[in-house]
Amino acid sequence: MSPSVSINTQSPILQAHVSRNEPHIVIDGGYPLTGSIRVAGSKNAALALIAGTLLATSGKTVLHNLPNITDIADLVAILNSMGAVAQFSDGNTTLTVDASGTRFNEPPPHLVSRMRGSLQLLGPLLARQGIVRLAMPGGCNIGARAVDLHEKGLRGLGATWTIDSGCFFAEAPFDGLQGGAVYLDKPSVGATMNTMMAASLASGVTTIENAAQEPDVVDLANLIVAMGGIVDGQGTSRITVTGVKVLHGCEFNVSPDRIEAGTYAIAAVATGGDITLIGADFNALSPVLSKLTDMGAHVATDGNHVRVWSGSVQTLTGTSIVASPHPGFPTDLQQPFTSLLALVHGTNTVHDSVYEGRFGHIPCLSKMGANIKVEGSVTIVSGVTSLSGADVKATDLRAGAALVVAGLVASGQTRIFDIHHIERGYQDLCVRLRQLGAHCWRVNVGDMDTMVME
Ligand code: UD1
Repeated sequence: MSPSVSINTQSPILQAHVSRNEPHIVIDGGYPLTGSIRVAGSKNAALALIAGTLLATSGKTVLHNLPNITDIADLVAILNSMGAVAQFSDGNTTLTVDASGTRFNEPPPHLVSRMRGSLQLLGPLLARQGIVRLAMPGGCNIGARAVDLHEKGLRGLGATWTIDSGCFFAEAPFDGLQGGAVYLDKPSVGATMNTMMAASLASGVTTIENAAQEPDVVDLANLIVAMGGIVDGQGTSRITVTGVKVLHGCEFNVSPDRIEAGTYAIAAVATGGDITLIGADFNALSPVLSKLTDMGAHVATDGNHVRVWSGSVQTLTGTSIVASPHPGFPTDLQQPFTSLLALVHGTNTVHDSVYEGRFGHIPCLSKMGANIKVEGSVTIVSGVTSLSGADVKATDLRAGAALVVAGLVASGQTRIFDIHHIERGYQDLCVRLRQLGAHCWRVNVGDMDTMVME
């Protein structure tokens, strides 16, 4: 995580920040974001890739460009508890995994329950160990988050599946997993990934129809190929995996995080700023960038740099977004985008039926002065001329990102609590925002005498 500096806790300005004894983010709004930052590696790809390293029975897998966030640290702790040897270097952005000694099949429940990404352990552990018992994963509370498609994928390879004492229990047949035809009723990212990983070491060919097309799925397929596996069709709705007997270690670069980059792009437009995202993947970002240009913002790309700029948010035209699987508008950016729309003249709508409960940010945005109504899976956002700072709570990761965007544009001061949600997915958020000219600090208040701001 970012380095901390001690500050004078007697400062009258800061005394106002410590009335609640928990870490929080303080934002003094109204400063346009300007300058450049390098985009971190994709959180969602990295989680799957780290789980995927368990497939290698020989050699070391080296993953570069990992984001330095708590979800990654938690998953690496799980790997180490399973008998693999996983070590960070380069400021926690490189991970070297020797998975040859993996010998356990039940990841520790207290770590599994911290994130949804731990579900990605099902496929590789089943393939390697023939049996896996996984506690209920955690992650954002944004709806039911069923696992029936993970079950369907693994059953399609011959595994049995039961739920026992709150744990998922999957077991391969005596003679190992067999390739098969799997149709996913929805293009689930996680179920596509688990099926691909399990199929990579099954005998025969597996086809996954209605597969997820997200860039994170493509990254995982490319890792399996780099390990000696055979995967075709990644990035399309039909993926074919031809099982091999063994996979080996390799070196792999995690793709840039389109959700992190998209969040900064939205914040730049909301604040009337001008930022360059170094190392961003323009194509992966196009669903959100095209919406921003439709609204009157400007976007330019030069190789792997993406520049996003706009004048005042009041001059933008309204729009509607419909969150849907890739290449549709990403559900993970629906919430920060809503904060931008809150200030855009006219009536804007946001439709998100990917998850049934992804509107935790709305009460807080309303508290800041936004005019938003929720009707089923649609939010109707009537633009207001300004937002004002308030004390608010992040209810989930991307709801937290939405509050950060709102705080950056609001007049006065915003304090965001429950920031552990945000820290699961955004590397050094306040440091990076300050690099772009924002007035934004993470306040740690363990003990009044040792208060630090990062
Ligand atoms: C991943 C991402 C998450 C993102 C989501 C959709 C990770 C760690 N998280 O989550 O940030 O919002 O993709 O882009 O990579 N579903 C079922 N049955 C299942 C599985 C999923 O009905 O067995 C439903 C879900 O409830 C949801 C939809 O399918 O409505 C999409 O879920 P899925 O693509 O699986 O998301 P995750 O992999 O959990």
